Amino acid sequence: MPSKIFSATTFGLDSQLIEVEADLIGEAAKFIIVGLPDTAVQEARERVRSAIKNCDIAFPRRKIIVNLAPADLKKVGPAFDLPIAVSVLITKRYLELFADDQKAVFVGELALDGTLRPVTGVLSMATLLKKLEIKRLYLPQQNADEANLISGLEIYPVKNLAELVKHLKGKSIIKKLPPSDFKKISGSRPVLLFAKIKGQQQAKRALEIATAGNHNLLMVGPPGSGKTLLAKAMPELLPPLTIDEALEVTKIYSVSGLLSHNEPLITNRPFRSPHHTASGIAMVGGGSFPKPGEITLAHRGVLFLDELPEFPRIVLENLRQPLEDGVITVSRASQTLQFPACFTLVAAANPCPCGFLTDAEKDCKCSPGQILRYQKRVSGPLLDRFDLQIEVPRVKFIDLQSEAAAAEIENILQRIDKARKIQLARFKDSQQKIFTNSEISSQNIEEYCRLDNQSKQLLKEAMFKFHLSARGYHRVIKVARTVADLTESKEIKIEHLAEALQFRIMQEN
Ligand SMILES: Nc1ncnc2c1ncn2[C@@H]1O[C@H](COP(=O)(O)OP(=O)(O)O)[C@@H](O)[C@H]1O
Ligand SMILES: [Mg+2]
Repeated sequence: MPSKIFSATTFGLDSQLIEVEADLIGEAAKFIIVGLPDTAVQEARERVRSAIKNCDIAFPRRKIIVNLAPADLKKVGPAFDLPIAVSVLITKRYLELFADDQKAVFVGELALDGTLRPVTGVLSMATLLKKLEIKRLYLPQQNADEANLISGLEIYPVKNLAELVKHLKGKSIIKKLPPSDFKKISGSRPVLLFAKIKGQQQAKRALEIATAGNHNLLMVGPPGSGKTLLAKAMPELLPPLTIDEALEVTKIYSVSGLLSHNEPLITNRPFRSPHHTASGIAMVGGGSFPKPGEITLAHRGVLFLDELPEFPRIVLENLRQPLEDGVITVSRASQTLQFPACFTLVAAANPCPCGFLTDAEKDCKCSPGQILRYQKRVSGPLLDRFDLQIEVPRVKFIDLQSEAAAAEIENILQRIDKARKIQLARFKDSQQKIFTNSEISSQNIEEYCRLDNQSKQLLKEAMFKFHLSARGYHRVIKVARTVADLTESKEIKIEHLAEALQFRIMQEN
């Protein structure tokens, strides 16, 4: 009789149940794994053999076949080591599982001495178990807290194979984890960098608005004006993730193998700043076994592109669709996958190759042709997606000497916090799952962002002056909604709209 136990694997961000079967089918000592295993799964044979031997159990000297079903799904990574080892021991009749364990799921990588090593994607697997009403999960100790984020499961943290074997035989018991009480996300980051920025009042205000409503921000200015510094300070302003968002983001990092085992739940909004040499796949995700890219790792947080025109145009163009839809569709030969990608895009750029085109003190050395070519590297449609476009001038000497007021920072943080709460209340009953003003769709814009006649008139004139597209028009209104929320005003007033319009420098010419 072949043995059968359960394991799980991730594909994209979701998980799937895998049946691990084993059987002894002949006399010649041989160990075969079938069911589309990749190299890491093939190599499980050596790890399993050694781990079993190091538990002082003789490895069967017969022909063993292990089948990972469904057979047409590619099996990737070392997480099948543990279920393979357990099923070999059952086939050998060394182990017999109790009824509850027959329905349990086993995952874990084995070291040669039988110790368990952590695996990726455990949160996603735990979510699947909950959905399928499977209760019991045996997994490496380091992954246990992560799985425990999903309530109602019986999580058994396993140190090594020998300990698990004793437990399954009922000889000594591994304690299951008590329910976790992670529901308290606390604390924000200390404001260290932001406090160091002198002057730059307009840029700081733009950061405040961008953070409050998740609006995309482009900063243009000469080298050394503080664009990178401003962007790097942004995470300090970002409010912590809500519980639902934290689980979403943690799942992405878990599947990507980027979750720290000391911090099983990610509570800070992600801030990703890929270099301009990053490939298209690294940026949007994909690959033969599709993995999330930078835009998905920035989900619910910020993607910062420093030196924007240096990024290959094709990479930048790929951002347009996810910026609009909040998801990225990755197509492979056999299937298509969707990854969430709802992020705020923050970018910095010099106005020309030498950087001093807009500078009041230093002359620009570039020819008109060079400037045009440089500026053309960022397409119009991408530019249109920046709700806030600002010039960051060189800091004045007098400003550099000044002290940034601590009270000012406190006020900014409080305004952002209040504006976020207003938005959460506004969208709590919305059909689509949205959290911030930037996500309001063009169909719903009139419902959430009503304008008075005076404002409509101003917007009409601005459309003409700035050559606003329909998208630009909607984006300005959404920014005005955030500006109004920052002052806790129910209505969008003309001054809110006027401020929103100040941040569209690129459209002026
Ligand atoms: N407003 C400012 N307040 C304090 N320091 C600044 C400011 N702007 C620039 N600096 C200093 O100049 C350095 C270079 O700024 P950076 O952000 O790299 O400029 P950019 O990205 O615009 O070329 C920063 O590390 C910082 O020390
Ligand atoms: Mg810079």
